[in-house]
Amino acid sequence: MCGIIGYVGAAGTDVTSILLDGLRRLEYRGYDSTGIAVLTASGEVQVCRRAGKLANLAAAVENGARPAPGSLGIGHTRWATHGRPSDTNAHPHADCDGLITVVHNGIIENYAELRQRLEQEGHSFRSETDTEVLAHLVERAYRGEAQGDLLEAVRLALQHVRGSYAIAVLCREQPQLLVGARYNGPFLVVGLGEREHFLASDIAAFLKYTRRVVIIDEGELVALRPEGLTIQRLDGTFVERAPTTVEWDAEAAEKGGYPHFMLKEIYEQPEAFQRSLLGRVRAGQLYLSELEALQRSGALEKVRRMIIVACGTSYHAGLVGKYVIERWARLPVEVITAGEFRYADPLVGPDTLCVAVTQSGETADVLVSTRQAREQGAPVVAITNVVASAVTRLADAVLYIQAGPEICVVATKTFIATLAQLYLLGLFLGLQRGTLHPERAAEILQALEQLPAQIQRILDRAAAADDPIAPLARELAPLHSVMFIGRGVGYPTALEGALKLKEVSYIHAEGFPAGELKHGSIALLDPQTPLVAIATASHVYEKVVSNMQQVRARDARVIAVATEGDEAIREHADVVLYVPPTLEELSPVLAAIPLQLLAYHAAVARGCNVDQPRNLAKSVTVE
Ligand code: F6R
Repeated sequence: MCGIIGYVGAAGTDVTSILLDGLRRLEYRGYDSTGIAVLTASGEVQVCRRAGKLANLAAAVENGARPAPGSLGIGHTRWATHGRPSDTNAHPHADCDGLITVVHNGIIENYAELRQRLEQEGHSFRSETDTEVLAHLVERAYRGEAQGDLLEAVRLALQHVRGSYAIAVLCREQPQLLVGARYNGPFLVVGLGEREHFLASDIAAFLKYTRRVVIIDEGELVALRPEGLTIQRLDGTFVERAPTTVEWDAEAAEKGGYPHFMLKEIYEQPEAFQRSLLGRVRAGQLYLSELEALQRSGALEKVRRMIIVACGTSYHAGLVGKYVIERWARLPVEVITAGEFRYADPLVGPDTLCVAVTQSGETADVLVSTRQAREQGAPVVAITNVVASAVTRLADAVLYIQAGPEICVVATKTFIATLAQLYLLGLFLGLQRGTLHPERAAEILQALEQLPAQIQRILDRAAAADDPIAPLARELAPLHSVMFIGRGVGYPTALEGALKLKEVSYIHAEGFPAGELKHGSIALLDPQTPLVAIATASHVYEKVVSNMQQVRARDARVIAVATEGDEAIREHADVVLYVPPTLEELSPVLAAIPLQLLAYHAAVARGCNVDQPRNLAKSVTVE
């Protein structure tokens, strides 16, 4: 939710191109408006901002608004929270005379009160944003107490601020200094080059230039100069941190010949799933060293129930997790959408294992819920894709899903890689609690290891000329509504299929437990409202088939996702999308793939912006 980038290097650099390139890779985080500010060789801060997508800013830059070369710059891509998307509300924001310029990801909760106080002191504001107060606060501290020390001015200014932020700040009087800070959620990382450095919301923003990174922790500030960096905590103490080298290469964040990131990421799933098992499953054995410390501490022995907190696609993965963990570990599991958890006065204590599932590691509702569970004494396991993201700071153990960068705003490969972690967690707990026989665990592990090749088979078939998915998607494209049903693990699969279709193609879609449909929603079905039924092999297969028959009897078209070899299903469905056979518990991994492709092709057929659907952002860092 909002992406920021900063650069500091030698005078005369084409900073604009570096910032625009970085913003292109951050645009998935929000695309209501974009902007850049460059401190030019003549000591002037030149700003260019535009409402709408990055293309609008790039066009403005090409058509005469390009800032001159310089040594320092910051940029922003926005997902609006305070103030509608407009040129004026686009970041960067500056104080009255443009001494301090700021970009910000997050929310300043007490901005109204700060703004009022600053206005009383004579500061005047141009935008409706919460961010603008930061520029004024830093300017006030810079001219006052901090006596021209920018790092200190930012530190002092932040003492007044409540909320969450990752910020980048430049000062017109300091051509070789870029200051950043991070607090309460949003990610911030430094990229170390040769006498040039970067600061960004995501490593992908500067991966083209360097893979040496330093992650800025919660409550830290960083001062970047071409010759090095200084890290300080908000309380003024200094911190030493060695850089690490990330393995992602720039190519991983490029489309690599695919028309969209979504399609590329769907096709990366065999590898992503394999990577998510890497080092954890070998020859039918489970190695989950990440949980060993928690086990040794005795915390797991006290656990009598589990809560999974998550949102959106991660919530759907959590629902699959509930089925398998209850089945394998015989532990009651409640899955709670994180936006509700904190207001529910939750019954959580040391006997409750809290599993926080968030691929970005930044989702505000998940962070708040996890913090609350932790404060109430629950041990916490985080499942995330982003190393050192905010959720990891709240966790006793972290399971990294290792799916690699996911640029498309809608989750695909991170969904199945999250499922992998929940399976491993279920196996670990089942073995540890003695509720899962080691032989059964070995069978499950073997089936898990076969999934990457089975996913590949679905993808290879989907690429063939006679595959039914793309033509079916073109048939669905003009329709207004599609229903999805499933039972058992097929139910969250149906929810995820519906979410994918609606968020990327804007066709209304809803998922239901198959048995629930006849209690009301069946009234919506007609020849123009097809039903997608998750009818893969399972102990509830026959029940799902009978629900399909009820629907067909009402003249609605039925599309089934079924297991290869099930020819009988053809009698009950107009179209069948086959997936390879696997264990019932693991079937969501395979059933998700044709549903993702269906959503993708429907969106393409409707001319939608596949990688950046309207109103969405990849990291939802506001509540
Ligand atoms: C859907 C999607 C969202 C996210 C949700 C949670 O495709 O991507 O529903 O799943 O915003 O995000 P994370 O997992 O980052 O907490």
